[in-house]
Amino acid sequence: MNFELKTLDLHAAATHKTDALIILVSAKDKPVKSVLAQLISDARKSGDLDESPAKLLSVWHPQGVSAPRVLLVSSGDGSARVVRQAVTAAVALLKATKPTHITVCLADASEHRLQAAAQAVSDTSYVYTATKPSAKASELKRVVLALPTAEKTKAAQHEFALARAQVAGVALAKEWGNRPANHATPSHLAQVAKGLGKKAGIHCQVLGPKEIEKLGMGSFAAVARGSVEPLRFIVLHYTGAAKTVAPTVLVGKGITFDTGGISLKPGPAMDEMKFDMCGAASVLGTFEALAQLKPAINVVGLIPTCENMPDASALKPGDVITSMSGQTIEVLNTDAEGRLILCDALTYATRFKPRAVIDIATLTGACVISLGHVRSGLFSTSDDLAQDLFAAGEAALDPCWRLPLDDEYAEGLKSNFADVANVAGRDGGAITAAKFLQRFAKDYPWAHLDIAGAAWKSGAAKGATGRPVGLLLHYLLGTVKAK
Ligand code: BES
Ligand code: MN
Ligand code: ZN
Repeated sequence: MNFELKTLDLHAAATHKTDALIILVSAKDKPVKSVLAQLISDARKSGDLDESPAKLLSVWHPQGVSAPRVLLVSSGDGSARVVRQAVTAAVALLKATKPTHITVCLADASEHRLQAAAQAVSDTSYVYTATKPSAKASELKRVVLALPTAEKTKAAQHEFALARAQVAGVALAKEWGNRPANHATPSHLAQVAKGLGKKAGIHCQVLGPKEIEKLGMGSFAAVARGSVEPLRFIVLHYTGAAKTVAPTVLVGKGITFDTGGISLKPGPAMDEMKFDMCGAASVLGTFEALAQLKPAINVVGLIPTCENMPDASALKPGDVITSMSGQTIEVLNTDAEGRLILCDALTYATRFKPRAVIDIATLTGACVISLGHVRSGLFSTSDDLAQDLFAAGEAALDPCWRLPLDDEYAEGLKSNFADVANVAGRDGGAITAAKFLQRFAKDYPWAHLDIAGAAWKSGAAKGATGRPVGLLLHYLLGTVKAK
């Protein structure tokens, strides 16, 4: 899908050649003398178009207009959120007509509206084909994003670059999130990372079981032990600033399939545990976007990736393992495996003397109970970092919500047989998981994003969302000047 940014007012839009013209309309729009403006005002007068957000009127072959289809969509208060809603509704309606070239006319690009529109077009027209070739890929080749004046177009160049990069990053995260576990093994993810490593500014290193053992990552290695698929530890470097500039480290949970291990999960919906690598996918997607945008920052991506399987050699409840930090862990539940692979990656992160470390993980069902599928769970040992991540989520329409880290929540993690247990009781499960991770993240400002509810959709629309690539990208771009 190729995006273009163009200047088109309603007068020019009338003669613009495209399969469909999506016009976001608002009562605040300045009237221009043109057939399209007339169409809009007539539609309003007749009651066919009102100000309710994303209200849609589709017109076929209107007179004096080159495009065979015109979709008028109310943009309500004009916010990025409503722009996304409006463009989603319009593109969904158009899907049956299989357009190859569509044009979205926006009144204004500021406050991430352009990005919201681009992301909505991409998300709504996405078709998964990797293991379903019969679902022909989207025919949508050209997407023109149009603004009414040359000044607005000029001012939106930067925003447009960001939109394109985010769309590409989200697409990569979605694609790998969606692939079934037998088509997205740890080795496959390592190959994707190696591919990213060929791009300018990115370097990729992949470690295997031997190296992990040498590093003393006994916790990560223990989870991988029950699977015939060898583990991989992916280390990505994006270098956009001087080597002396401290990097931000992103750590993504890459469980390519989570059966629960010996603490086996129940059967229903277990297929969805192929999405348990969406944290890893979001790190890969973010690097794709960084490669396109080339911001003046340094970023390290760490992805511990393996399967969590039951087997004769698998980890058993009660086993005590030794993490890279030296802390021993009593594994009371082998289904709490995410924290076991992340803790060693968090210890590994120290060597980069990072300015901040953010881990991203589909970590707990409890987080889905707390926040549903709207906001990701955010935990942080730094108020500044928490604030910046929260703000980035708002700007990217990829929101999160901060949850607490009081030490009292760690009570239940005490063990008679090791320094720490890997689970506490059921209560406050998202928080106790974060408290476990915090023990391994003492050397730097740290944040944890629990994306268990945000990373994918269930039901008829089952599929990865590509979240939180938008949040991460906005956050990282915000660190450019901050230093
Ligand atoms: N990958 C799951 C978390 C998960 C479950 C995400 C359902 C989305 C939907 C994680 O590895 C897990 O199994 N967590 C357990 C922890 C428990 C054993 C303390 C959970 O949430 O049930
Ligand atoms: Mn699990
Ligand atoms: Zn898991």
